[in-house]
Amino acid sequence: MCGIVGAVSERDVQGILLEGLRRLEYRGYDSAGMAILSQDGTVNRVRELGKVAALAELIESAPPKGHVGIAHTRWATHGEPSRLNAHPHMSGDRLALVHNGIIENYQELRDELKSAGFEFTSQTDTEVVAHLIEQLYRATADLTSAVKQATGRLRGAYALAVVHADEPDRLIVCREGSPLVIGVGIGENFIASDQLALLPVTDRFMFLDEGDIADIRKDKITIWDRDDNVVDRPTSRFEHAADAADKGEYRHFMLKEIYEQPTVIKATMEGRITDTRVLEQALGTEAGKLLENVRHVQIIACGTSYHAGMVARYWIEDLAGVPCSVEVASEFRYRKHVIQPDTLFLCISQSGETADTLAALRQAKKAGFRAALAICNVAGSSLVRESDLVIMTQAGPEIGVASTKAFTTQLTALLLFSIALARHNGLSSEREAELVTAMRLLPGQVSAALALDKEIAELSREFMDKHHSLFLGRGTLFPVALEGALKLKEISYIHAEAYPAGELKHGPLALVDSEMPVVTVAPNNDMLEKLKSNLEEVRARGGQLFVFADGQSALKNEEGVHVVHIAEVHPVTAPIVYTIPLQLLSYHVAVLKGTDVDQPRNLAKSVTVE
Ligand code: F6R
Repeated sequence: MCGIVGAVSERDVQGILLEGLRRLEYRGYDSAGMAILSQDGTVNRVRELGKVAALAELIESAPPKGHVGIAHTRWATHGEPSRLNAHPHMSGDRLALVHNGIIENYQELRDELKSAGFEFTSQTDTEVVAHLIEQLYRATADLTSAVKQATGRLRGAYALAVVHADEPDRLIVCREGSPLVIGVGIGENFIASDQLALLPVTDRFMFLDEGDIADIRKDKITIWDRDDNVVDRPTSRFEHAADAADKGEYRHFMLKEIYEQPTVIKATMEGRITDTRVLEQALGTEAGKLLENVRHVQIIACGTSYHAGMVARYWIEDLAGVPCSVEVASEFRYRKHVIQPDTLFLCISQSGETADTLAALRQAKKAGFRAALAICNVAGSSLVRESDLVIMTQAGPEIGVASTKAFTTQLTALLLFSIALARHNGLSSEREAELVTAMRLLPGQVSAALALDKEIAELSREFMDKHHSLFLGRGTLFPVALEGALKLKEISYIHAEAYPAGELKHGPLALVDSEMPVVTVAPNNDMLEKLKSNLEEVRARGGQLFVFADGQSALKNEEGVHVVHIAEVHPVTAPIVYTIPLQLLSYHVAVLKGTDVDQPRNLAKSVTVE
């Protein structure tokens, strides 16, 4: 939630900040602002309601000038989206601050600062921090000390960037529970919520640890850890091509990302399989040791990543014979659990910064799980740094708020993991070879599914004026139906529910009529015959069926039934291939409805608050 960017340079930083905000807009986009230290010793702050484009328009005629600045794009948590609640927040007219995260004890601090004479102009938790730092600055006359002392008073999750007109050469940042990266330049340095924001100016990055505070100057970076020791944090180079953050020929990032799937699925398998085997070492040098005595797997994730976990449960239990539980992180973290001996804790997260998932991981580490494995797409993220073993997905940056390629690469990584675990639990080499062969076919099969784009675009017209829809699947395809329904909800704002098809007659069938499209994923697996009976139940009640089915399934177009044929796939890899048509369907419905496909209302890409 929220994106922050900052720069200390010899040149004017306004353009760098604006481009950084554009690239961070996926994190929140209800208002935006920037504060720049001017050469005349004042702070020039501009803020605007709405997207970054609105801010750009506001400053176009008179861009603020200066060499040190901070900027923010907001996803509202405390206080409605408005210009007054937009960041940067100021204390007096000399200190400005941007914040990503949530300050839990803000009310108590607000009361205290009000009694001390500070006046509040917004409803945000952030303004409290600005006044708190200013209060401490008056006593210390040193911005770093003031920030250090202030962090001792804050509870919650935050990444902060602070500038003060009395200290015009520097920018102070800190992080606790929210992401922050330092971009290292030549004669200039930067900070941002993620690397993408800074790619036009640098490809070298330092990641701050939890509790770190840094003093950023144009030619020097000093970092203190939470115990106030000066520390070095390693610098690494960004590993993806700089154009990954461009839409290229595509109308939307989401479509570009849907089309990237054959490549990124292949990249996620690369170096990890031979013709016949999964290379366990490639999952991490400790993988063999960690997987050896796993007797149970506990999967934790949110949203789309949770759906990937639900598919994995079928694979882990079916292939490895190891019991597996899956739970959403926001529930898991707030209940007592019974931990079975030798349970592996598995977190799935595209961003690696989802607050609920991280909280669950931190709890699990204290609770006696065997080890923590992460499936993640962002190297250097908190999740990656805090896990014992990591399998990186190779999706590259995902900009569209609705997750697509992250999901299918998560499934790919989870299948590699399931096969590796299965080998420790008696999987025969013949079966392993069969599964790996099926995986190697995936890039081609996903490309073939993408070739159905036109046919699916045509079909999407049937959804345009609908208000509700049902998605059905069985077995591993039930979570795929859940994911299809989530995509449709997120970007087209059509209410969509997913059910295991066998549940239909236990309630949802009552909803079915000609106004309720029913989408079904029906590969040729051992559930197909049962699924066909479920489809008959819908047809008999006048429901409109949209079925994505294997050519061998004998399902045909007829009155009330629209069938899109998918090429034959192995039952184990079917969830990956059958996800594609559902992504395309939701995309085309959203385009027809004219919604903001890449930045759907009320959502943000990275949910770093609770
Ligand atoms: C949906 C979507 C979200 C995320 C969820 C978890 O399209 O993107 O449901 O999957 O917020 O995010 P990560 O995977 O970053 O932990």
